[in-house]
Amino acid sequence: MIKIVTIIGARPQIIKAAALSRAIKNKFSNDITEIIVHTGQHYDENMSQVFFDELGIPAPNYNLNVGSGSHGKQTATMIAGIEEILVNEKPNAIVLYGDTNSTLAGAIAASKIHVPVIHIEAGLRSFNKAMPEEVNRIMCDHVSTLLFSPTKTGFQNLLNEGFKANNEKPYNANNPKIYHSGDVMYDNSLHFSEVAEQKTTVIAKHSLQKNNFILATIHRNNNTDEPIRLNALFNALYKISEENKLDVLLPLHPRTAKLLEFNLDQELHQKIKASMHFKIIKPVSFLEMIALEKNCKIVMTDSGGVQKEAFYFEKPCVILRPETEWVELVECGTAIITDANEQKIIEAFKTLTSKSDMQFPKLYGDGKASEFICGEMKGNL
Ligand code: UD1
Ligand code: UDP
Repeated sequence: MIKIVTIIGARPQIIKAAALSRAIKNKFSNDITEIIVHTGQHYDENMSQVFFDELGIPAPNYNLNVGSGSHGKQTATMIAGIEEILVNEKPNAIVLYGDTNSTLAGAIAASKIHVPVIHIEAGLRSFNKAMPEEVNRIMCDHVSTLLFSPTKTGFQNLLNEGFKANNEKPYNANNPKIYHSGDVMYDNSLHFSEVAEQKTTVIAKHSLQKNNFILATIHRNNNTDEPIRLNALFNALYKISEENKLDVLLPLHPRTAKLLEFNLDQELHQKIKASMHFKIIKPVSFLEMIALEKNCKIVMTDSGGVQKEAFYFEKPCVILRPETEWVELVECGTAIITDANEQKIIEAFKTLTSKSDMQFPKLYGDGKASEFICGEMKGNL
């Protein structure tokens, strides 16, 4: 029996961890014991607890209750808390997801005391180190022992950075093993796809017409913190919605909700509030999000996870960022990068909604990435 400590903290990590916990429970319960540590990076009910209730994730064994703060303070507090738990629990490895400050804190705490790091979602690169996430993921990859990349591109990025494809066992931080494993988020989307519509009423609740509304999310720090960018994004969404008489549903991240008050032009804010079509709501649950993704006309987002889920459910996507680490979406022609450029967003909407020949090939695995990862952990720790 091996013991792993899983670190979660931000919304997408709680969702990703659900896939691995499910695989452990269903197929590896005699092989892997999981201790879950919630850093408390996200703490609102609708950013954290809702996912435990809905996705059947075991309650965290520890909650560090770190909360919000500057990068340094938040990460440092997490490092200290995680280190203490690792020293007490003496796990065979720490499992880290994605690229948040919780990921970085886990990587630093574990690597310094020689606990092997397993990084799920390794190898992704935006090649933009102004993004806090890019710094977090590079640092985490380079102290990891087992690196699971969801995509071929991610695997190639690791090779380009000097990782070797054919290292032999035993693996450690100096002799890491890299994999192209498929995406645990795809596992989740497949698993919850059917029940999402049966168990939620979000479409009716917001009086949405199936296949005839825009699903938008905005939370990336450069979009929320820079007034010019935030105004360009909301102007574009407002114009598209008014010109096409099309509802926009925007489940708003608390970061953006707070910054709208300061950074959005007052007149635009009033117009949006008065609009029949522009619906700003609180963050929704994962099942509600899937129901929205399956039934919308198009997704417009700066989220990493949501751009991929749009693809899983065969919807076009406008990527409200200057670049993406999920480059295959753009290569397939189902997604267009617009950055926070009002004109480009409007053009991309027109292009994608008038396209009739979109292909959505299976780029993210077979829905069993989590089982593959569990098997490799079992055999290699
Ligand atoms: C974090 C991740 C980002 C990820 C996102 C997922 C980092 C550096 N960023 O960004 O990669 O895409 O999570 O959603 O780790 N807040 C609340 N309630 C909450 C959580 C946050 O009000 O439950 C507000 C606080 O004002 C906080 C702000 O949101 O200061 C930002 O939260 P934080 O966790 O620092 O970063 P995110 O923008 O959520
Ligand atoms: N999500 C959700 N409710 C919402 C918005 C997003 O459940 O209101 C889910 C979404 O389906 C995806 C994940 O959260 O699985 C993406 O997280 P987020 O956009 O916060 O972060 P990112 O993926 O950009 O790191």
